[in-house]
Amino acid sequence: MTFPGSEQGRDAFLKVFKDVDDAAQDASEADPFPAYTDDDTQKGLLGPFCPTSARRVIKALTMANVTPDDGVLDIGSGDGRLVTAAVAAFGAKRGLGIEVDAGLVELSRSLAQKVLAGKERMMDRIEFVQGDFLSQVELVRDVAWSVIVVFLLPDHTEKFADLLLHHYRRGARIVALVFNLNEIPELKLVQGDEPENIYVYSKEG
Ligand SMILES: C[S@@+](CC[C@H](N)C(=O)[O-])C[C@H]1O[C@@H](n2cnc3c(N)ncnc32)[C@H](O)[C@@H]1O
Repeated sequence: MTFPGSEQGRDAFLKVFKDVDDAAQDASEADPFPAYTDDDTQKGLLGPFCPTSARRVIKALTMANVTPDDGVLDIGSGDGRLVTAAVAAFGAKRGLGIEVDAGLVELSRSLAQKVLAGKERMMDRIEFVQGDFLSQVELVRDVAWSVIVVFLLPDHTEKFADLLLHHYRRGARIVALVFNLNEIPELKLVQGDEPENIYVYSKEG
């Protein structure tokens, strides 16, 4: 298979983000878990930046069976790795990451450009928007996303449960990282990997 959605894309993704993960590993030895306080909740932050490792990104998107037919949305996209991998390594037709931290949005764009070096036209399929995803109604609710990724603190699930159910009922797969979505009983688990903490929900499965 050739790029897009190829082994070449997956290798480029893993190479770029493995370097990022290695650097983060060094930093985390000094500061093992990102601080998250009530003050962050007040500001509308639904979780701290804590990236999914590049290897687990590939695993999660494989479990969700992402294909070129998919539009993938990550609500709280960090450094953009889920969206970048969905397009570069799985050939998704569109990827959108919404991230509240402007620095991470800028970083997402530059990392995606690195992964897609020589394939710049594929950048047209990737978008990173800065802001609170809960206020981006036309992007997160009105577009028919087929895969939605969520890695946010479970204390806040009620704030985005309706959004997930809106897409789930239209046939979207929901990919939850680290925290399962047991608080939303309507969601049917179709793939779960407990040791890796990856959960895929779909009403079609
Ligand atoms: C645990 S990280 C996950 C990052 C990425 N999805 C991943 O798995 O690597 C959660 C991210 O969500 C962002 N975030 C938290 N609340 C948000 C909100 N209301 N709107 C947009 N982004 C938010 C944080 O800044 C952080 O980067």
